[in-house]
Amino acid sequence: MTENSFENMMHSSGGAERIGNMLMSSGAVNMVMNQAKRMMWSVVEYKDLQMVYTCAIKEIETKLDILSTEFNLKHKRNPISSVTSRLKRTESIAEKLSRNGLAFTIENIEKNVRDVAGIRVICSYIDDIYAIADALLKQDDVKLIECKDYISSPKPNGYRSLHLIISVPVYLADSKKEVMVEVQIRTIAMDFWASLEHQIRYKREIPDQESVCNELRACADVIAATDEHMLKLRKKIESAEDAPTEDDMLLERLRKLDMPIM
Ligand code: GTP
Ligand code: MG
Repeated sequence: MTENSFENMMHSSGGAERIGNMLMSSGAVNMVMNQAKRMMWSVVEYKDLQMVYTCAIKEIETKLDILSTEFNLKHKRNPISSVTSRLKRTESIAEKLSRNGLAFTIENIEKNVRDVAGIRVICSYIDDIYAIADALLKQDDVKLIECKDYISSPKPNGYRSLHLIISVPVYLADSKKEVMVEVQIRTIAMDFWASLEHQIRYKREIPDQESVCNELRACADVIAATDEHMLKLRKKIESAEDAPTEDDMLLERLRKLDMPIM
């Protein structure tokens, strides 16, 4: 606004009031702009949070990968059959927070949603599950936050799995963050049941619910019995073998000498 036009406005009738209105509306514009900026910062911070959880997944996957590499090289069999991971979808995070009456904020996500980063480890036998859990938990930088053993105490529907909530440090360029990760460890058989049960149940009206649930539970029990049976068979075969001598062990390691380390 030029000095002249300012003078003219002041001298015309109601000039001061018009300026007051203009200032007020520019204040309102500023407020809206600031709100929009804060919102955009929250979006950027949320992306950073996703990055940190992705890094935590990478950390645990690397730990599992190292264990797997060692097992491949040193032992006759590898207890880890496969590993998958996922970052919880924004929609599911929002749904979990609202279910618990909490607002969608970075602080609430970090404190209350423990499964933003999720890893699933599939093992061959039941005892492998506990061996993998022990190998992870005895590492200095891994802290156990919570353990739910749905193998010793299956869910009423028959679901079996070992769930660990652990935290690991993620080192960034100028900071360190302890990040929670949910690790589900289960056998191939337990995974088979859980995957099919999830498919059958997911977002569906189940007819004759009680009998379907009973049948699912019965299937889970058959699968659990088979898991136990397979473990017994493996142990029987192992105990029938002579304990390896030092020479046997050396020979086994020499055989694997040129095996690619992956
Ligand atoms: P969520 O709110 O689902 O995370 O449950 P929670 O916090 O009580 O944790 P819980 O350890 O009981 O279960 C977490 C996860 O385990 C689920 O997101 C599923 O991946 C798996 N899970 C738990 N119960 C079942 C089940 O009955 N069937 C199947 N297929 N998966 C299950
Ligand atoms: Mg979950």
